[in-house]
Amino acid sequence: MSVRIITFANKKGGSGKTTTVVNLAAALGNKGKKCLVVDLDPQCHATLISGLNPYSPLKGAGSLFNNFHIENLIKTPSHKLFDIIPSFHKDNSYILYGSELKYKDIFSEISSKYDFILIDTPPGREDILTFCLSVSTELMVPMPLQFLAMEGLAQLLGLLYTISEKYNPNIILSGIIPVMVDMRTKHANAILKELKDTFGNDVIKRGIRIDIKISEAAWHQLPIILYAPRSKAAYDFHMLAEELLLGV
Ligand SMILES: Nc1ncnc2c1ncn2[C@@H]1O[C@H](COP(=O)(O)OP(=O)(O)OP(=O)(O)O)[C@@H](O)[C@H]1O
Ligand SMILES: [Mg+2]
Repeated sequence: MSVRIITFANKKGGSGKTTTVVNLAAALGNKGKKCLVVDLDPQCHATLISGLNPYSPLKGAGSLFNNFHIENLIKTPSHKLFDIIPSFHKDNSYILYGSELKYKDIFSEISSKYDFILIDTPPGREDILTFCLSVSTELMVPMPLQFLAMEGLAQLLGLLYTISEKYNPNIILSGIIPVMVDMRTKHANAILKELKDTFGNDVIKRGIRIDIKISEAAWHQLPIILYAPRSKAAYDFHMLAEELLLGV
């Protein structure tokens, strides 16, 4: 199997991107898949919840764009379920506007080592998003079932189509993942129906239910499948990993 490079993006902040990347990577790792998380968010949240210190003086993802040898940027969290290229506050002031495409082959020398490369993206950084979509094979969109979270989707898909036409014809939208799901409200049901009508059942994944254990796990810097293996969210991440392994 050749590596699947998946960008996780949603223009809205707080829409579950980081939670999805880290916990899905752990669930895939638990099933024996080799995963690399790439934290391209200057907020360093994926780094923090993976148990690394974002205030480290070491080189991180920012140095990817500074001709640093990529293998030397890879770290392994203590749980060893995935590898990570962390983001460190002292090394993430990179700006890619205008030079996003210079780095298109950045993962080529490590791609044979991994089954999945999962990229966490920040809200509101079109330069980083353009780079990520240019180097990825897939886009996945974590999506709370709320009207405002859907607002940015059309814009994001506009960018995806531009990039697929100009730079990366093979990229696909492979998943919209409902997150923080609470199907007791009419509103959530209406949004889910609209998503399914628009994108079809294959693109819309089962999703991750709202579960306070997710925030607790992040606080303890552990993936949910280790922190609360019997929780609703741990079950949902196992199922999402299964869906990914079946798909595409
Ligand atoms: N299924 C869930 N149940 C309960 N809380 C959740 C769930 N998923 C995410 N959260 C919480 O929602 C908040 C936002 O999630 P997260 O940080 O993953 O979003 P994000 O899109 O990465 O945010 P940003 O745009 O700032 O990078 C976090 O506090 C997280 O713990
Ligand atoms: Mg985030």
